[in-house]
Amino acid sequence: MASEARPENYHKHDVIVVGAGGAGLMAAVQLAGHADVAVISKLYPSRSHTGAAQGGICAALGNLEEDHWEWHMFDTVKGGDYLTDQDAAEVLAREAVDAIIELEHMGLPFSRTPDGKIAQRRFGGHTRNYGEGPVMRSCYAADRTGHMILQTLYQQGIKHSVNFFDEFQVLDILFNEGVCCGVVAYAIRTGEIHTFHGKAVIFATGGFGRVYSVTSNAMALTGDGVAIPWRRGIPLEDMEMFQFHPTGIYKLGILLSEAARGEGGIVRNSEEEAFAKRYAPTLADLAPRDMMSRFIYQEIKEGRGAGPNKDYVYLDLRHIPYDVQEAKLPDITEFIRVYLGVDPTKELSPIQPTAHYAMGGLPTDVDGRVLVDDRTALPGFYAAGECACVSVHGANRLGTNSLVDLVVFGRRAGKHALDFVRHADLVPLPANPEGFARDQVERLLSRGAGVSEKAGEIRQTLQVEMFDKASVVRNEQGLKEMHGILLDLQHRYQRVAIDDHTRTYNTDLLEAIELGYMLDCAECIVAGALARQESRGAHYREDYPERDDVNWLKHTLVWKTSGGLRHGSRPVSITRFQPKERKY
Ligand code: FUM
Repeated sequence: MASEARPENYHKHDVIVVGAGGAGLMAAVQLAGHADVAVISKLYPSRSHTGAAQGGICAALGNLEEDHWEWHMFDTVKGGDYLTDQDAAEVLAREAVDAIIELEHMGLPFSRTPDGKIAQRRFGGHTRNYGEGPVMRSCYAADRTGHMILQTLYQQGIKHSVNFFDEFQVLDILFNEGVCCGVVAYAIRTGEIHTFHGKAVIFATGGFGRVYSVTSNAMALTGDGVAIPWRRGIPLEDMEMFQFHPTGIYKLGILLSEAARGEGGIVRNSEEEAFAKRYAPTLADLAPRDMMSRFIYQEIKEGRGAGPNKDYVYLDLRHIPYDVQEAKLPDITEFIRVYLGVDPTKELSPIQPTAHYAMGGLPTDVDGRVLVDDRTALPGFYAAGECACVSVHGANRLGTNSLVDLVVFGRRAGKHALDFVRHADLVPLPANPEGFARDQVERLLSRGAGVSEKAGEIRQTLQVEMFDKASVVRNEQGLKEMHGILLDLQHRYQRVAIDDHTRTYNTDLLEAIELGYMLDCAECIVAGALARQESRGAHYREDYPERDDVNWLKHTLVWKTSGGLRHGSRPVSITRFQPKERKY
């Protein structure tokens, strides 16, 4: 079937990568020079959210103290509250070491030890000898690690002549003959529909933290690459598992890296008590994020929150000398000064948990192949990074494991896709490939203002209510209320009208489209959270406070069907470490 796009808006490449963050670029770099690869991004690549990752990328290099990939694997499994697929955790921990060296050889300016090795520091949940105490595993470039990875990989992409299509919003994914064969995108600069036809498609579109009102996620993280395939029948996995990072700037959610605690920072309550060690005697402030966020929640609940509303706690960096702060934490100390008006060398910084990372997403195997059920890969369709669920993070990701995930599984997806396209034929496009995308855009552009709902109002309600009812601590009543609110918001969304009817850089239109993706992601989070009647990792149900391995040691899957949501599950891969109680 021919594309109905104008000839200049039809593009044919071997592999279409959607998303130009760490995972997408790492995949593209594997392909460049061996296959014809295009990278589509709704942003200019160097604005991708990987650039916001601060504290580090971990690998058991052992540069400063003894370390082993097996210890890293164990921490990843335990940190994930045993929902982590252990085959994936083994791949991550083993291949992290090579991945760091590869990045170093690409020119990534890591911070260094005095003798010139890659410097490493502590991070939450990373331990020596299977939990004995903290270990220095996180490699870093000050607190700009993600920024440096992004710049390095983008430079590699340019060097290897990757075809970049910047500022293209993907609207649809195309399947034909049981194979993924392309995507349809909206050119943000011109307002035209483009069709990208390929033998394989790799989604690396990031997460969906913008469904919450307080989040560390950039504006762009609206779950596009998760919702689009879901609407086309691909299931989503473990969507109820959403991580809150304990140290977001109060009210703004901007990340204050865990590296601050890795360098000795301490979280304190209104009485200036360093309370974490009361809850986690061994790791204290370096307990995993799900736990630290709950400790903060508990302190606030018991009246030891600070401020007029007693709704935040403090990050204390006062004892970290100014020159160390400048050398190792320059960005976050600047954020503290600029956004809080606080001098971190002299004052305490107000913080609260901030929506940070989706553990769930498109189910994949360890080669990035997207699964359509509990085991079957869909030929030609790959996903990597935060939009994917491999599932290496289980119910709670350890700090610094996201950047490793991007690099390790982005690389594997790229390599597998290369092998695939070498042997695969180009499948024709399905009938009327642009139809759905074109209708979606035209409907919004042409809808009159008479019956209008405003996207901004729906979005704000969504974010505030999700933060209230589906965040660090959940219960059936709140989740059921949220479910009802979502039904209403979905209904109102059908009547959304926009004010800007022009074609060039129409952010009004784009935000309305993104809102639809956010509503889908929120629906899956809430449905999964209601269904999972236990507490595990980031999913804490106060009405079911215990982990229940008998009934819930399994991944959840959720499909969109014409009759509503369909729920399923798939087993957790357990290879080396039997589930145990998590103590830190
Ligand atoms: O705290 C941080 O620097 C965040 C790192 C991460 O999410 O891995």
